[in-house]
Amino acid sequence: MARRVALCLLSALVFALAAAAQQTTLLVDVDHRPQTSLDGPWHYIADPYRDGWGSNPDHPSLHGYAANAHYVPGGPLVQYDFSRSPTLNVPGDWNSQDKSLFYYEGLLWYQRDFPVHLKPHTHLFIHFAAANYKTAIFVNDVHVCDHEGGFTPFDCEITSAAKDGDNFIVAAVDDQRAVDRVPTIKTDWWNYGGLTGEASLVEVPDTFIDDYSLQLSRTAANHLEGYVHLTGADAGATVTLRIPELHIEKSAVTDTNGRAAFSIEASGLELWSPDHPRLYKIELAADSDHLNDDIGFRTVEVQGDQILLNGKPIFLRGISYHDEAPMRSGRAWSEQDAATLLNWAHELHCNFVRMAHYPHVEAEYRVADKLGILVWTEVPVYWGIDWTNAPTLDNAKQQLHELIRRDHNHPAVILWSLSNETPESPERNAFLHQLAVEARAEDPTRLITSAIVTHFHGTNAVLDDPLGQDLDVLGYNEYLGWYQGSPNDIPNYTWQNPMGKPVIVSEFGAGAKAGLHGPQTNLFTEEYQDYVFRQQFKMLANMPFLRGMIPWVLMDFRSPMRQLPGIQDDYNRKGLVSEKGEKKKAFFTLQDYYAKMSK
Ligand code: GCU
Repeated sequence: MARRVALCLLSALVFALAAAAQQTTLLVDVDHRPQTSLDGPWHYIADPYRDGWGSNPDHPSLHGYAANAHYVPGGPLVQYDFSRSPTLNVPGDWNSQDKSLFYYEGLLWYQRDFPVHLKPHTHLFIHFAAANYKTAIFVNDVHVCDHEGGFTPFDCEITSAAKDGDNFIVAAVDDQRAVDRVPTIKTDWWNYGGLTGEASLVEVPDTFIDDYSLQLSRTAANHLEGYVHLTGADAGATVTLRIPELHIEKSAVTDTNGRAAFSIEASGLELWSPDHPRLYKIELAADSDHLNDDIGFRTVEVQGDQILLNGKPIFLRGISYHDEAPMRSGRAWSEQDAATLLNWAHELHCNFVRMAHYPHVEAEYRVADKLGILVWTEVPVYWGIDWTNAPTLDNAKQQLHELIRRDHNHPAVILWSLSNETPESPERNAFLHQLAVEARAEDPTRLITSAIVTHFHGTNAVLDDPLGQDLDVLGYNEYLGWYQGSPNDIPNYTWQNPMGKPVIVSEFGAGAKAGLHGPQTNLFTEEYQDYVFRQQFKMLANMPFLRGMIPWVLMDFRSPMRQLPGIQDDYNRKGLVSEKGEKKKAFFTLQDYYAKMSK
């Protein structure tokens, strides 16, 4: 009985601490900071009955999990012992690592030990590149932070909870789908759960750079504008910015909000573009903090129904893709995953990709910067969201904020997408209007878009969804020849664009099992998919306001909605490449089409 009391007291203590959890910070550019990796095997305990949650279902309390208890034969009652439990590799979703977790959805506890060498005037953060979906972090039984959202980074300050020498961290990750989450209950992709992104320990000084932005002015040639934001600095702190290749060294001082503004003439600047993805090393310094980055300078804007890159009209030769790991499946996370996926797009002669339907791993944006591939990136406001639920809107805003904060220094990123295929209603319009306001306030240098379902009346489509009022570029998805109509009839369809804005056909395609051949009338053959693509090209060529096309999809990806045995086997087969890297007939047809277009 005494032991039971001991366990309950411990959980009560931890629960009390749980309420004191800090919210997360967002350090930008962690990749350019010294880090101690926490990747590798972490012990795990699946918790389908949520026994680890305390009385408050919103805060895990380790109730029943004495986090560092060890079972000893003849010793006290212990029912959960991390050190005796199996391990999962971090980063990586649990579904694709352990067959017993393939369909697991819910709460799972991770634990590992890690060493710390405490230093004066140094703040310690634990950085998570991503964790799907809701996460609570404990260090030495202290609840240090929470995060909601499955695809954006977060940083937990652990300075006060860490000890010199051995420490232990517990991460409670819950990927249970729910009506009020973003995304909501149903998605056409696998709900990969867990610590899906890299984890690391990051040290920063008392005064550190936690955000910056440097962009080329749309109105004055060779003029750079931006800011550097410090945490821990008083007003009047000096920040220095250097661009050695342009012989630029400028200093500015912070205002009362810790923000130092910069306005710089940069003569001799070479613009970044798909044909010339010129990056410059920038060096930032403030007090004892230093940070480097590689940034390209370009402008993107809309003029009538044209998209202008560096003041010139551009046509976006795109491809959509999920953040699915080539060859091994599961959530992508590595430099190798990023290189494989973006190099396939480059091989297709793409100058553009749509990173669907949620923020992808940051390595992919860096590869896009280097290869000169423009990016449409989006938050997972997908299909039927809980439009009237305030916490849902707050989380969508938070995910959008984190996406913009993380990626607003990548020249490749030109479009923030607010949603995908959301059913039209006044509540949905109001919800997305607020996201558009947030996005413009956070980053006025890029364009706003969404992917909207195309509704045909007969063989005609009028692109007048009211959401378009809030967008700079209209994205419309259509599946003529697959979900609607015969491939033979695709060229007969017509489009009207009453808003006069640039239009991108943001999805079209058809399924094919790699290696399955037959008449082009047979569904799921490579010939059928290829025929749909060739017929789509004929229709798209007749859209005078079309400024981009993004076929669905680069690579087959896992989805619980795609189960046809022997054909789909849990994969959406609209990929031009199979999950094993087998290129289908339509890959070469699109490659040829884009090659001719790029001449
Ligand atoms: C929709 C949706 C995609 C989905 C695709 C399909 O357009 O946006 O997420 O995978 O259709 O049905 O394959």
